[in-house]
Amino acid sequence: EPIVTVLDDAAAVAAAVAEHVSRAVRQKPTLTLGLATGNTFRDVYNELIARFKAGEFSLAEAKAFNLDEYVGLPHGHPGSFEAYMQHHLFEHVDFAPGNARLPDVSAGDIAAACAAYEQAIVAAGGIDLQLLGIGRNGHIGFNEPGSPFDSRTREVPLTESTRTANAVDFPPGEMPPPMSVTMGIGTILEAREIVLAATGAHKAEALQQAFHAPISTDCPASALQRHGKVYIYRDRASLGA
Ligand code: GLP
Repeated sequence: EPIVTVLDDAAAVAAAVAEHVSRAVRQKPTLTLGLATGNTFRDVYNELIARFKAGEFSLAEAKAFNLDEYVGLPHGHPGSFEAYMQHHLFEHVDFAPGNARLPDVSAGDIAAACAAYEQAIVAAGGIDLQLLGIGRNGHIGFNEPGSPFDSRTREVPLTESTRTANAVDFPPGEMPPPMSVTMGIGTILEAREIVLAATGAHKAEALQQAFHAPISTDCPASALQRHGKVYIYRDRASLGA
């Protein structure tokens, strides 16, 4: 059973997730984090940066692997998750150079780069704490509905609904690319601990399917029911009507 904390609003969720991460880093300064992007995590990273600046913890010995990245964007494109991570976290904290990475989507051989990413995670000792958001169709990372629960880091197409939802992070008139690289559901399930953050009424249905319905590949996040250590931080709005 996941450990669920329901908070008043998105700000309280962000603070609680940041506190969870801060505590984990203080306990294990060498920990390996799995990092997520999206709107929900903008607020989480702001809270985390505030705690870092207050001297609560250092990430100098920590490592991080992001869940996913678009394929085919020019380097430095503002819609890329690399740009997101730079702006919203990396340039404000003290990860050592090279210790915070995203899937390498610029490689000529993407499949080989995906295998190398998996190997790098293993070499880092595996992911201690994986942060996750949830898409409105129940996706985790970019594992869209139908993704096998034993999937690994790989190139996958995005659904129209995900591209439309994420278009807000792109310049006006520009859509996110049709392809991405994401850690697999199998990769995610190997993390020792998982923290999922979700806020807003538009996440109610996905959360319902993920945690209060039978496990199904129709809802990728329902795979988390198979993991023994999942913490969910959600706001009241995400409980739905
Ligand atoms: C994106 C990301 C996911 C994220 C999800 C929800 O597509 N690839 O990792 O969890 O969308 O994002 P948001 O918090 O913006 O709703």
